[in-house]
Order: sequence, then C-alpha cells, then structure tokens
Amino acid sequence: MKVGFLHSIIRKEEKLLLQEFGRRGGVEVVRIDDRKCSFNLHADDYDLDVLIERSVNHSRAVHALRVFHDHGIPTVNHPDVADICGSKFLTTQALIRAGVPTPPCYLAFTPESALEAMDKLGYPCVIKPTTGSWGRLISKVNDRDAAEAILEHKQILGSYHHSIFYIQAYVEKGGRDIRSFVVGDRCIAAIYRVSDHWITNTARGGTAKNCHVDEDISRISVQAANAVGGGVVALDLFETPDGYSVNEVNYTMEFRNSIDITGVDIPSMVVDYVLEAGRK
Ligand SMILES: Nc1ncnc2c1ncn2[C@@H]1O[C@H](COP(=O)(O)OP(=O)(O)O)[C@@H](O)[C@H]1O
Ligand SMILES: [Mg+2]
Repeated sequence: MKVGFLHSIIRKEEKLLLQEFGRRGGVEVVRIDDRKCSFNLHADDYDLDVLIERSVNHSRAVHALRVFHDHGIPTVNHPDVADICGSKFLTTQALIRAGVPTPPCYLAFTPESALEAMDKLGYPCVIKPTTGSWGRLISKVNDRDAAEAILEHKQILGSYHHSIFYIQAYVEKGGRDIRSFVVGDRCIAAIYRVSDHWITNTARGGTAKNCHVDEDISRISVQAANAVGGGVVALDLFETPDGYSVNEVNYTMEFRNSIDITGVDIPSMVVDYVLEAGRK
C-alpha cells in the first residue's frame, strides 16, 4: 500500500506516525513536503492509495486535501472536515445543527453589532478569530469597557481574520478542560488540561492529566466528530453543570503529550485507521 504523507516541519507527532508506518509490513510511505510540492491540477498522476495530512498550515492542508480527494484518493481527513474544523464558525454551526451542546455563540460583522452581541451574552465573554489555534489571539472580555477597547483595536489594527467577530459565552470550567481523541467511531483517549490561566492549551502551559473516558465523554465526542464529518479528530470539551459542552474540533490533531499519560498508543490507532481507509 502506498501512503502519501503530507507534512511541513516534522514534529514529534509526525516522527511517531512515520515510525509506526515503518513498522507495518507492505506499506510504502511517500513523503510530500508542503513547502516543496506543487500540483499540476490537470494531471491525474497521483499514484497513492491513501493520503494522511499532517501539515502545520491550515490553508495548505485544505487546498492539498482537496487536490488529492478530487483525484479519487481517500484522505485523512476528508477536505470538508478540514474546512469545517478550520473555522470555529463552521464548527459551531455543524455542532448546533447536529444537536451537540456547545457554548452560546454570536457572530457579528461590525464593532457596533459585536458590542451589542456581547451585551446580550453578558460578561465575561470570549472573542476569537474564526481561524487559529494554540490559544492565539483569543480574548476574555470581562466588561463593556474591555469590549469597546478590543473591538476598536481589532477594527484599526486587525487583519482580515479579525473582521468577523465570533463571540462565545465564557464558560466557568473549573481550571481545566478536556481534550478527547476520536478515531473513526471510537473515542480512544482523553486528557484534562489543567491551568491557572483561563486558556488551558498545553502549547500555552496547561498541564496534561489522564482523563477516564466515561460513557458521556465518549458519546459527546463521537457525536461531535460525526457532526463535522468524522475521521481522526481531537475535541475540546468543557464540563458544565448541565453536562459536557463542545468548544471546538481539531482536524490535524497533536497528541505528543497524551500518549504516556493515557497509556494509549495513539499513533498506532491513527495508522490503523489510515491503512483501513486505503484498503477501501
Ligand atoms: N468560551 C470559553 N470559555 C472558557 N474558556 C474558553 C472559552 N473559549 C476558549 N477557552 C479556553 O481557551 C482555550 C483555547 O480556545 P480554543 O477555542 O480552543 O482555541 P484554539 O483553537 O486556539 O485552541 C480553550 O482550550 C479553553 O481553555
Ligand atoms: Mg482548542
């Protein structure tokens, strides 16, 4: 089987995945570096059985996934999943439509209407660019003064990505949230991300602790994964008095901090899934 491996820099995750593919018999990995490749869109010469996307760049990932998919190659993940998960707005829409609990959310296009939306949600609330990761450029807005200030800054200093205002209710989540991992139709593992800061990403100093995957975590994780199209995804869950609430779904999941802590061989399960997709 020929597995296309789309990548940028090789991080710990990519190293582990490549090692795991190397352990499997009858698998040839074709590395595709998104910094070096170009695609002849008229040609149909992609000799691959399946492609796994491990790019660090969202735009490159969605474009490349679409190229391979349109040439009939199964991709992990599907380009539609990358499109949806790459946008917090589209993710929220998909979750709401599927009836998956997610924090109250408003979308607005001008600072004035964004301020009105924040007033309606109440303070604190959270404003985020619709695209982004690692907790970057998301702001907790504690009161109306702060709201006015941040909206003015976004309007005057912000790029295109800041011209759409995605505003969520702030969820009191007790100093932690849950990162759960879904591969296909199974929630394979979960960790708590504990932090003194309201932003709990491990990339921002949150510490990982094992989280037992109970029935509720498993159910909501798989439901949310299916809502965005399924595949190999990682979710952010908040614990609320009304049960779990899904904050977002990530489609090129990072898992380096979660293997030892959970005792789950995440790369092996991802590789199983990719090879299975290649056999179909
Ligand atoms: N509405 C919210 N209420 C409480 N905490 C939040 C909220 N939104 C985000 N956070 C915190 O910030 C972190 C990063 O936000 P997230 O929406 O996941 O963006 P990113 O794509 O950068 O990970 C979350 O893991 C969580 O700890
Ligand atoms: Mg997140």
